[in-house]
Amino acid sequence: MKQVKYIQLIRNKIIVGKCKLEIDNNIAWLENVFIYKKFRGLGYSKFLLRKAINSMKRMKKKIIKLHVKHDNYIAIKSYKNIGFKITKKNYCKNKLFGYTMSLII
Ligand SMILES: CC(C)(COP(=O)(O)OP(=O)(O)OC[C@H]1O[C@@H](n2cnc3c(N)ncnc32)[C@H](O)[C@@H]1OP(=O)(O)O)[C@@H](O)C(=O)NCCC(=O)NCCS
Repeated sequence: MKQVKYIQLIRNKIIVGKCKLEIDNNIAWLENVFIYKKFRGLGYSKFLLRKAINSMKRMKKKIIKLHVKHDNYIAIKSYKNIGFKITKKNYCKNKLFGYTMSLII
């Protein structure tokens, strides 16, 4: 059965960002990673991602996966910075569309 967990990053009582995890057995799919516009580019993504990762560690999950569009360079950088690796290239009508990235935790 799928389980859903919502994560929020809060700084000075303000919600800075959020994401969602869809958990299916040992795999957690990270979705809707979002830092609110005025807080972007300030390094908050790693704190949000760390929070999501720690939450999955506490739940004894083994792997986190996500989908990202191929040209979302900032998101890809954020994910690589925290240890995610590209594990699959996804094509749509023979054109590169995005990547599946994975992190073993
Ligand atoms: C992707 C997103 C979550 C990143 O969050 P963020 O807190 O703004 O990112 P950070 O400030 O932590 O920056 C992450 C990396 O990208 C770089 N970066 C950030 N903004 C940048 C910009 N405007 N131009 C170039 N590089 C940039 C940073 O330098 C950092 O890399 P570094 O640590 O090696 O220097 C945020 O931009 C966002 O919410 N985007 C819209 C939703 C989205 O696309 N989500 C991902 C769906 S898969």
